[in-house]
Amino acid sequence: MLAGVSVNFEGRDIISIKDFSLEEINHILKTASNIEPLATKGSEMLRGKILATLFFEPSTRTRLSFESAMHKLGGSTIGFAEAEMASVKKGENLADTVRTVESYADVLAIRHPLEGAARLAAEFAKVPVINAGSGAEEHPTQALLDLYTMKKEKGKIDGLKIAFVGDLRYGRTVHSLAYALSLYKVELYLVSPKTLKMRREVLQTIKEKIPVVEKTTLDKIIPLVDVLYVTRIQKERFPDPAEYAKVKGSYRIDAQSLSEAKKDLTILHPLPRVDEIAPDVDNTPYARYFQQVWNGIVVRMALLALILGARK
Ligand code: NCD
Repeated sequence: MLAGVSVNFEGRDIISIKDFSLEEINHILKTASNIEPLATKGSEMLRGKILATLFFEPSTRTRLSFESAMHKLGGSTIGFAEAEMASVKKGENLADTVRTVESYADVLAIRHPLEGAARLAAEFAKVPVINAGSGAEEHPTQALLDLYTMKKEKGKIDGLKIAFVGDLRYGRTVHSLAYALSLYKVELYLVSPKTLKMRREVLQTIKEKIPVVEKTTLDKIIPLVDVLYVTRIQKERFPDPAEYAKVKGSYRIDAQSLSEAKKDLTILHPLPRVDEIAPDVDNTPYARYFQQVWNGIVVRMALLALILGARK
């Protein structure tokens, strides 16, 4: 526990990053840092505990990262990755699914295409619920691992100039991350096509706390920033495929486009990428998106340990 700060995570849900104070977020990051050696060595601290992953939407990283985190702490996992195979296909509603699965597990991680789904699940579940992505709304554990990566790469978060690039409307990771960053002293540049600008409610909230500049092109932005957070245009969330066609491929970062970047620029991406970061960026010192994946396990280990009471 941080000196003088009283935080308690045992039994808590993780639904929105907005439910967490700066002290609580910093405590999670500190716990992650302390727990990181166990991601290599392993631990038995969650022996006998079960995580259920209920994924109603595609995922590679988030689900496997939660499962890996649980196994590294000695716990086990159950769940489904294809709702097609679960009883929801027979018409079972989310509340019944949750009230069933809570008998099998100590904590649930849920990903669902509908906004508000994780919050609803938490209202029905007696065990803690972690939001692993709720439609275009939020992805709080991704925001925590993004912050952890920034802190690890830069030594601090305060003072950073950060640009988000891509789909700021349908991308849920940027919503949670923007809320979280607004608790720090950062400057935020939001680069997106006009039709994919940052959601209004997010923008209004963060603008009250930190300087925010909105742009439609990357012109002059790259040399300015310490962190470039690139996102995929969220094709599957567009109501109209013609609208997607108009913005597809709007931004493409390649090694050439980084010629004026700061020497210690950090490029992050929640992944998966489509074509917004060219493969020739992967071998530059700026690319940290695969380290971000590793950090995801570490942060999820910390969250599971805190929620299940194995760490204070
Ligand atoms: C993101 C998601 O699912 O929101 N992926 C992830 O969890 N790392 C980003 C995306 O799908 O573009």
